Amino acid sequence: MREIEEKIQKQLESVLDGVVRVEVPESLDHGDYSTNACLREASQRDVEPYRLAEETVGKINKESLEVIEEIEAAGHGFINFFLDRSLYTEMIVERIMEDGEKYGSYDFGREKTVVLDYSSPNVGKPMHIGHLRSTIIGDSIKRILEFVGYRCIGINHLGDMGTQFGKLIYAYKNWGEESKLKEDPVGYLLDLYVRFHDEAEKNTEIEDMARMWSKRLEDGDDEAEELWKKFTDYTKKGLMDTYSRLNIDFDSWRGERFYGDMTDEVIHEAVDMGVAKEDVDGSIIIEFDGDETPYLIQRSDGGTLYSTRDLAAIKHRKQEYSFHRALYVVGNPQERHFKSLFKAADKLGYADIEELVHIKFGMMSVPEGSLSTRSGNIILLKDALDRARDKAIEAIREKNPDLENKEDVGEKIGTGALKYFDLSKKRTTNIKFSWDEALNFEGSSGPYLQYSYSRACGILDKIDRSDTADYDDLEEVEFRLARKMGRFHSSVLQAAEKYEPHRIATYLNELCEIFNEFYHKCRVEGSEYETRRANIVHAFLQVLSNGLSLLNIPELEEM
Ligand code: ARG
Repeated sequence: MREIEEKIQKQLESVLDGVVRVEVPESLDHGDYSTNACLREASQRDVEPYRLAEETVGKINKESLEVIEEIEAAGHGFINFFLDRSLYTEMIVERIMEDGEKYGSYDFGREKTVVLDYSSPNVGKPMHIGHLRSTIIGDSIKRILEFVGYRCIGINHLGDMGTQFGKLIYAYKNWGEESKLKEDPVGYLLDLYVRFHDEAEKNTEIEDMARMWSKRLEDGDDEAEELWKKFTDYTKKGLMDTYSRLNIDFDSWRGERFYGDMTDEVIHEAVDMGVAKEDVDGSIIIEFDGDETPYLIQRSDGGTLYSTRDLAAIKHRKQEYSFHRALYVVGNPQERHFKSLFKAADKLGYADIEELVHIKFGMMSVPEGSLSTRSGNIILLKDALDRARDKAIEAIREKNPDLENKEDVGEKIGTGALKYFDLSKKRTTNIKFSWDEALNFEGSSGPYLQYSYSRACGILDKIDRSDTADYDDLEEVEFRLARKMGRFHSSVLQAAEKYEPHRIATYLNELCEIFNEFYHKCRVEGSEYETRRANIVHAFLQVLSNGLSLLNIPELEEM
């Protein structure tokens, strides 16, 4: 509980007359809380650290720190604080019950808006694994930021402009079938795209045809426009079906094309302000100090780019949402783009550079055939989900053949497994996907968390609730479980400050490990401590549930 740490800190600060940091030691032998503040203080006052620690302990008003049972001065001037375990456990359990869904939350984001740009696949182009990661990581960060009080706006900045449309229009007009497009828009457009490239190898003329269609689309030609709309609308529908399986939605679906009309204004502004200039080839660029590559905002043929639309989007989003932060959940390869974009936006006064954050992430490599049904790194979100579901159903058939609704449970285990796999890794590192790891029921996986949840539900099923409980004679593991539950807020805080969902994932995994130890060591039903243990299990379920919802992993009462 953060209040306890704060109280200890205040007491120490008033005694020592300076800023004190209270830590939570790894090992319980070093106390439940600890500080080395006396070490620094002692060198300034030229006394022995241990002496000062002893003296300080003598001055602490222990009564005011109710739940602290013992305070000791230790080597190197450390002061260690030990909790009254029974009282602490009781307090934590009650606090969790009281706060319910809000347990672990903060409200420091109140009245501030964060705009998150994530998922953002390209219509009619391969949806690669980077989009899957962006979708899952972006959604979790949004949930975490909402949990600490921010108003969040999720934007799917759909790639609905670009040369692929010329190719798609050509391909669709020659080989396309509406019924197929309707049935599986994302997959079918990808097929057309792939076919176009295959044919273009044999017959380069069709590249010219595609360019012609691109141009017609840019010029507002009716037929081109109509097909563009068809592809985009169907794609959105197809994506929405997939997102709904992931329980993910967006507040805005404004794609790149939405900003197309605003790019002229941006270019004029940049030139008028002297921020941008015409280059020798007639293109328009924004230059930066040093030898950083200039940022191209208008091609020499007058066309605008991804970068121009992103600049327009910042301006527009600032006006519309007056955001405190705008986050872009996009893979490492676009690092350079965002660096320049943010600098350019800052120069133009659209937003301050510190308000703009690139939430980058490493690539996930997929062993051949494990996630993708098509070759290479091209995957369809939908295929990945189907695959995850089928694998999970296989596992259920093996472990719990009598379970009803295998399909439904399989779907939830599958998506949970994919999400946990992604979210439990530090996002900036490159990762290798593995089914064995993702679907491992024994530990550190989505199914493991879900299994722990259902196990806890199973315990409570058999017990009538009553409120008065006795917290004396705790088993050590009961206390450790309470202690871990009391530390939830600290992972939330770290996750929110660093935009790192893996802090929550790791925390939940550790929490479940302690819970499973508790499960093996402490009988609940029929034990003389039944009521208190049932309360502890209740509290555990609440904390796990709060954490799972930050990762958007479905809970399962039975699996
Ligand atoms: N559609 C882009 C891609 O697939 C990602 C867009 C990210 N968002 C942005 N505002 N640039 O690479």
